Amino acid sequence: MRHFIDLYDWSANEIAELLADARQMKNDWAKGVRPLPLAGRILGLVFEKPSLRTRVSFESAMAHLGGQSIFLSATDGPIGKRESVSDFARTLSQFIDVVVLRVFSQKTVEMFAEHGDIPVINGLSDLSHPCQALGDILTLQEVFGDVKGRTLVFVGDCNNVSRSLALICAKVGMKFVLAAPKGYGFDNEFLHSLAVAEPNNHTVEITDPSEAVRQADAVYSDVFTSMGQEAETQKRMAAFKDYQVTQRLMALAPAHAKYMHCLPAHRGEEVQAEVIDGPQSVVFPQAGNRMHGQKAVLKRLLTAGMGTRRV
Ligand code: CP
Ligand code: NVA
Repeated sequence: MRHFIDLYDWSANEIAELLADARQMKNDWAKGVRPLPLAGRILGLVFEKPSLRTRVSFESAMAHLGGQSIFLSATDGPIGKRESVSDFARTLSQFIDVVVLRVFSQKTVEMFAEHGDIPVINGLSDLSHPCQALGDILTLQEVFGDVKGRTLVFVGDCNNVSRSLALICAKVGMKFVLAAPKGYGFDNEFLHSLAVAEPNNHTVEITDPSEAVRQADAVYSDVFTSMGQEAETQKRMAAFKDYQVTQRLMALAPAHAKYMHCLPAHRGEEVQAEVIDGPQSVVFPQAGNRMHGQKAVLKRLLTAGMGTRRV
């Protein structure tokens, strides 16, 4: 049984195949070629945190492929509160064919996968956001064609989004630069895992955003305070005050550089309105590509025998 919990579990070739399939399905859909490979299959979505993009793009992806979705909000209490994660996973597996979990702790996703009987997709955890990273590379491929050798500069926190981006960049042969203040860079455990998984990764950490963006093909930012870190808001706003992506910062990047953001965005914090709403921004096609990347993931997990239940 395969899962899409973290990109460590997917080889560079498999990531390339997912991206190629996503491109193909996006083109086919636009031409009116709309096969229904997941007819009769049901996706469950269990979310401990709010969402616009992840929820709607997965529900639409499933409908496009002929399947259906059931959304279970877990915002009243984490998975595992009313009954154990194990009982929850074993029960839910009786009713649905694949699940997307958005959780506070990645351990919840891993426990569900261990005890459940269906493929599990990570729809964002404290440690990773692999579906976002897949859609982001799809977007860069649309802009640049082959992305090998390109540089993505992430200005901000070592969070779920930047960690998954560092990993996928290594898998597609891109350089990844994290421009973060001291104390907000990648931890040693992550850097070690990255080095073991992708020994040829080109991940660099720089504290000065002006220096970081000089070679950028894309400049990316995300909120300074992720969901679950609200108690640290004041401290983080102070630590990241010089890390806003401004027009002045973008002017230091090559003229062809694009601006990216996973959304939701806080204009005036991690990005100036003129940048995210300006001509270099690709944030809305980027959001749209979430659906196309996830269609490839759903199809891959539920066909070719990968989603077969243990009976
Ligand atoms: N980028 C992203 O995951 O958006 P949502 O939180 O709205 O799902
Ligand atoms: N880093 C952000 C991403 C939201 C899509 C968060 O976790 O809140």
